[in-house]
Amino acid sequence: MMRYRQFGNSDLQLSEICFGAMRFTSTASHVTLTESHDREQEEAQNREGRRALEAALAGGVNCIHSSGDYGTRWMLSDILAQHPKRKEIHHVIKMTSPDYEEGGFDPQVLRDSVEDALRDLHADRIAIVQHLQRGPHVPKAEAYAEAGDQRRIDALPDMVGPLQETFEALRQEGKVGHLITFPHTTGYATAALDTGVYDGVAHFFNLIEPEALPLLDRLKREGKGFLAIRPLLQGMLTDKRIDRKGLPETDLKLRAGWDSRYALLEKIRERIGEPNEPWTRFALKFALAHEAVTSLVASGNSVAQVEALLEACDGQYPSRELLDSVHALVEEVGMPPKADLFGL
Ligand SMILES: NC(=O)c1ccc[n+]([C@@H]2O[C@H](COP(=O)([O-])OP(=O)(O)OC[C@H]3O[C@@H](n4cnc5c(N)ncnc54)[C@H](OP(=O)(O)O)[C@@H]3O)[C@@H](O)[C@H]2O)c1
Repeated sequence: MMRYRQFGNSDLQLSEICFGAMRFTSTASHVTLTESHDREQEEAQNREGRRALEAALAGGVNCIHSSGDYGTRWMLSDILAQHPKRKEIHHVIKMTSPDYEEGGFDPQVLRDSVEDALRDLHADRIAIVQHLQRGPHVPKAEAYAEAGDQRRIDALPDMVGPLQETFEALRQEGKVGHLITFPHTTGYATAALDTGVYDGVAHFFNLIEPEALPLLDRLKREGKGFLAIRPLLQGMLTDKRIDRKGLPETDLKLRAGWDSRYALLEKIRERIGEPNEPWTRFALKFALAHEAVTSLVASGNSVAQVEALLEACDGQYPSRELLDSVHALVEEVGMPPKADLFGL
């Protein structure tokens, strides 16, 4: 039975799993492909992706995370046009402004992102807008790291006025619910929350990337919500890939960019021992263990994957001591960079 959690102190109840729509079609633009697929394989993938989303909704998932730039909205649009539960779904959408090399926040980007999503998703309201500020004038390698923090933080005071004003207008129109930040770094997250404009945070949170743990304590104190992005670290923290040896040679996780992540994983396994349940389930439970986490934004690309995601939500989650232990170790060793994961 799916479990639901309150988004901070609000009246929004989200399922513990939020369907991440970044990878579930053959047209997904943020996915690195190792081999070319013919039309038949693409169609099979799309059929499976469709069944995956339908299984998630049937299993009690009431939250979908999407973005206009994932290249997968067409499938959501297709399914949701007819789906009996479409009015019960809480949508989280990504909105980016200013982007890397842009100069400042553009209110029209916010408005267009919301209007496009309402139309494409056949929705009356977008429950959560996830704001990503990658600029102004911050190259990609810096926008995910401390190197870009100062420029992004310095732009906050000029940005928050028009951001708040536009969001409030959309809220008055009944089109949006909550605004959260997608900070990329914990330093920027602190500064963004200090503005008082955001109702919560979406950030990477998994065994290899646990840096948000102290932030979760703050969110809990302040009654704000948290969405844990990529709890399986793009499929690395699963039974299929937890042991790198034996992966087929086409698997992306064999690429050199994943070396530091597997080295860290080895240290974590030495520190905490092997879980007494499958790794996929344990990794998901790790990300659900803090009560400030409202929902995990995870990609399930097949019915089997979705079923495993749903089964992990049984209310029995690791202790705070375990979270602290992993967090302390990763702080000590150093967390791998976040920017290089796309295209690896
Ligand atoms: N990654 C980011 O940087 C990012 C940024 C912004 C937003 N998001 C949002 O977060 C969502 C999740 O991110 P993500 O896809 O990168 O990471 P993720 O959810 O941690 O990993 C998903 C991958 O794990 C594998 N998987 C899923 N369920 C499984 C299961 N039960 N058993 C075994 N393997 C399973 C699948 O890979 P295989 O099919 O290859 O095995 C799947 O593509 C996205 O859809 C998007 O909505 C992500």
